[in-house]
Amino acid sequence: MNTPTLDATTTTAPPAGVPVVDIDPFSDAFLTDPYEAHQRMREAGPVVWIPAYGIYACARHASVHAVFNDHATYISGAGVGLANFHKEAPFRPKSLILEADPPSHTKARAVLARILSPKTVMQIRATFTAEAGTLIDRLQARQATGETIDAVKDLAEVYPLKVFPDAVGVGEAQRENLLLYGDMIFNSFGPRNERLQKSAELVQPVTAWIMAHCQRENLRPGGFGDLIYQAADAGEITHEEAPLLVRSFLSAGVDTTVNGIGNAILCLARHPDQYAQLHADHALARPAFEEALRFESSVQTFFRTTSQDTELFGVPIPKDSKIVTFLAAANRDERQWPEPDRFNIQRRPAGHMAFGSGIHGCVGQVVARLEGEVVLTALAKRFSRIELVGEPQRRLNNTLRALASMPVRLIPA
Ligand code: HEM
Repeated sequence: MNTPTLDATTTTAPPAGVPVVDIDPFSDAFLTDPYEAHQRMREAGPVVWIPAYGIYACARHASVHAVFNDHATYISGAGVGLANFHKEAPFRPKSLILEADPPSHTKARAVLARILSPKTVMQIRATFTAEAGTLIDRLQARQATGETIDAVKDLAEVYPLKVFPDAVGVGEAQRENLLLYGDMIFNSFGPRNERLQKSAELVQPVTAWIMAHCQRENLRPGGFGDLIYQAADAGEITHEEAPLLVRSFLSAGVDTTVNGIGNAILCLARHPDQYAQLHADHALARPAFEEALRFESSVQTFFRTTSQDTELFGVPIPKDSKIVTFLAAANRDERQWPEPDRFNIQRRPAGHMAFGSGIHGCVGQVVARLEGEVVLTALAKRFSRIELVGEPQRRLNNTLRALASMPVRLIPA
């Protein structure tokens, strides 16, 4: 894996007839608070032009949905970030699932979808639930000694780093390397800015560890990783493809849920009336996690590339153009959701874009939902309130709505 070099942003002349929105979606200001800029893009039209990067953008629910559900026109094989792999080499071997199109995508997807099926979730549910209970009990005991709990460092990072690598079959030692890796991968979908460069430098020393943990000899027999190798034994994929698919689990399966859980806890801490409803009725844990994914989507953006000249909502788009889809903006589109800026755990936000849509829709969503549900249930059972005792700090990432820290006081029920 090479350390990426820095890109300068350049202004490209807008194509005629496409509304221009002059923003930098990878600037600190945007990433810190993207919502006003999302609104500007949605108001400007279903498809807009961002001159700083010379890209088309969709921020409305209807246009994001249309792009994700026409995988023949809007392909993933040229990269799901800003880089166009038709024009520049990817900085690492391409993902066999995320950055692939049918028919090769179909083959890899079938293997991972079977491993991460609802049946799997039934099998891991009891363990995931027990681990959530154990962790929250431990936090309660630590808090009782006067310690301040950081809901990010002590909970949102710890829980997925325990249960998910356990399920994949990765050993206990140095798992926090997965956080560095995830941070770099999700930065790599944006421009080659300083944010990416810094995270690539941090991940450099642990790259060998990551790659070693994609190999069968370092994966527990029977875990999700080993099941990928078993699919290779059965001839569904090749043995050369297996480690790259394990890599997909290690890159997509931790930072996403860490921030999904972190954002959900933050939403509940900032909306005590909503937390009170969850505390009164634990069955709301699942819809609460879902609503938090809509309200503060942990994955904010993904890109596509046009395979041919096309037209989207009347806007002509030439072949080989890059389009960024703002999943998080679609999730607050007033054309789709009543009172979109209200966090409401009773909402049942079916059709949100937080897991994408169409053939690439998150293959790990059943596991992500399980993690979110059991953590929120464990909290709701033990605590009547979550109070913020310091300002939560965001960790800016080119793709993720991520958190660095969130000091809280958990008020026992
Ligand atoms: C809250 C947590 C998560 C969020 C918000 C999330 C979000 C997403 C999104 C938006 C996509 C669509 C990408 C695209 O269309 O280009 C995706 C795909 C994917 N996700 Fe997740 N994800 C989460 C958790 C997970 C977990 C736990 C795993 C692994 C078990 C996982 C594995 C994957 C993989 C392998 C893909 C590629 C699927 C494909 O291209 O067919 N994700 N995810």
